[in-house]
Amino acid sequence: MTTKTDNAAVTGAIGSGHTRVEGRDKVTGAARYAGEIPFADLAHGWLVLSTVARGRIRSVEDAPVLAMPGVLTVLHHGNAPRVDTDYVGMLGRPNPIVGIFQHDRVPFVGWPVALVVAETSEQAREAADALVVRYDVEPHDVEFSAGHAGAYTPEDSALVQAETSKGDVEAQLAAAAFVVDEEYTTPEEHHSSMEPHAATARWDGGRLDVVDSNQGTSWVATELAKLFSLDPSSVRVRSEHVGGAFGSKGLSAHQVAAVMATTLLHRPVRVVMTRRQMFSLVGYRSPTAQRVRLAADADGRLRALDHESQNLTSTVHEFVESSAVLGRVLYDADAHHTLHRLVRLDVPTPTWMRGPGEAPGSFALESALDELAEKCGVDPIELRARNEPGTGPVSGLPFSSRNVLACFDEGARRFGWADRDPRPGLRREGRWLLGTGTAAATYPSGVGASTSAVTAEADGTYTVRINAADIGTGARTAMALVAADALEVAPDHIRVRLGDSDLGPAMIAGGSTGTRSWAWAVRLAAAELRERLALGGGIPPEGITARSNTADAIAALPEMERHSFGAQFAEAAVDVTTGEVRVRRLLGIFAAGAIVNPLTARSQFVGGMTWGLSMALHEEAIRDRASGGHVGADLAGYHFAAHADVPVVEADWVDDHVPDDPVGIKGIGEIGIVGVAAAIANAVWHATGVRHRELPIRPDRVLRAAEEARRRAAGEAPGA
Ligand code: MOS
Repeated sequence: MTTKTDNAAVTGAIGSGHTRVEGRDKVTGAARYAGEIPFADLAHGWLVLSTVARGRIRSVEDAPVLAMPGVLTVLHHGNAPRVDTDYVGMLGRPNPIVGIFQHDRVPFVGWPVALVVAETSEQAREAADALVVRYDVEPHDVEFSAGHAGAYTPEDSALVQAETSKGDVEAQLAAAAFVVDEEYTTPEEHHSSMEPHAATARWDGGRLDVVDSNQGTSWVATELAKLFSLDPSSVRVRSEHVGGAFGSKGLSAHQVAAVMATTLLHRPVRVVMTRRQMFSLVGYRSPTAQRVRLAADADGRLRALDHESQNLTSTVHEFVESSAVLGRVLYDADAHHTLHRLVRLDVPTPTWMRGPGEAPGSFALESALDELAEKCGVDPIELRARNEPGTGPVSGLPFSSRNVLACFDEGARRFGWADRDPRPGLRREGRWLLGTGTAAATYPSGVGASTSAVTAEADGTYTVRINAADIGTGARTAMALVAADALEVAPDHIRVRLGDSDLGPAMIAGGSTGTRSWAWAVRLAAAELRERLALGGGIPPEGITARSNTADAIAALPEMERHSFGAQFAEAAVDVTTGEVRVRRLLGIFAAGAIVNPLTARSQFVGGMTWGLSMALHEEAIRDRASGGHVGADLAGYHFAAHADVPVVEADWVDDHVPDDPVGIKGIGEIGIVGVAAAIANAVWHATGVRHRELPIRPDRVLRAAEEARRRAAGEAPGA
């Protein structure tokens, strides 16, 4: 990307498709991931996880294991270094799972109880398998249900407001022409990024150096410094290539274990998670139990919107799956209420997973909207148009830009919505019943302070330093395009350095904020550099560097409702004699601000939509009530959409200009998944006349629902 080409007329890099600048390295194997970078004298740690769901460790019988070939040490609560978990990090208090080996309490199956370190990975694994840990077991509760007696309303946090309320919901429900009052459930789901979590830690000239796979090296470095009471400048975290993260790659047990072991052994130590270990160590999407109540006038105008969502959390940490937030953005009503509730169980703490909150929340709210459309006899898109708010339904703030109806218009045109007969259960093609469905999507457009440095090199190229995390999204390429536009040079004159905490602080790749946050910092630095270059004079051998920090510019941004929007369309085919559901088409149209790289942006939308299909039809992690652990916690037992399940998926976007935002980028990491499961469930209803309010829409559920519908139609009693 540093070959010289003609520099003339090269603005407009943003918005033109570019393949990944590191693509060749990735496909040839030259790109190294955290678990495969070589180190001299490397030792290998293997985590040992609890097999009971609640209790205390009585003993870790490490003596026989220490005598096994190659074993160097066994760390556990009886001998591990102490760490300080009493701190507040970027996203609040740390998940206590990073405080490994500090006490004998076991709060769930899969809690780290020991680390076996050996000369080779195989020796460590064999010894870890042989390690006997004895427990004093206590009774556990891992059963999530809507009516759980322990449900409570959490405190508001900086990230989630637990409850919002205006008007009298009950009065509006009583006075309305049409009411929908339904419960919806979504299951436990897992990120399972292709690259498992891995870290290598070592001490290098008095500095802690950690090679890791994460969503933000400054974030992980800062938290490691706090945890181990180190000067922040003495911790360096690098994360050059990341094979997917989806919310699961922050500070976890493996980096902490590697740091403890390297500190004791004085040699580099690597800890890599297995696929199975990821199911308990890195978080997951909580199951949800949601109730949506909608009340409308005869013409479909909303009088009441009430969305309550309950999720689970662990006994040691609180996580709110913010599924009730959609209504705060999408629809106004005379009476408006949203509420989150939590249940503490003896399970690992859930965490952010692609489209956290909105992904499961949209299944409930956008299914309920479709049910209301059916009751009112109003087209689902028209119903949304009639309830389009002028300002934030709860905040009253103006929208920075809001083009959700443009998404529906464009989507309807391309999908062929105008020809749709709204009546369900009418279209048949051989053994298949056919239907179409739609749903709205939204996701917040956030931003975080970042620093950047842009250097004009003596050889006529440019170096951009921005501590972005490229978690597979194409961040390197996006930043090259942003810098090319700002500098008015060709993208191949620009090299991008990222994924290294020594580059200085920058926003994480999370919450769909990365590209917007980093682009802002790169642009400021590039603009400053251009001014300095315009002064003339030669470029010295060390180059000319301009630096930026966006903290002040971000603070000066007026408070507004800032969100991406979208419209999802699905066509489903259902065989009610086998219970099989096939999605035949997916179309998503998005309004997400400026699209930096259409090639990789489309991939992200399509990836999110594919995951939405997987969520609708396949994914659920099953917990065994007796053991408290998962059944089939691997990619054989955890079913997700494979190639044959995925039809043509089309994603595109409409113009979405954000007038007051100097960057104009909104972020696209999460919105692709939002609304997809509802669009598919609405299509399944349109095909069969049966509503599915539990995900995933499994064959047995389709069969049971079809049998119930048949009995109702025949006037028979409901089946057992
Ligand atoms: Mo995203 S779930 O904030 O990585």
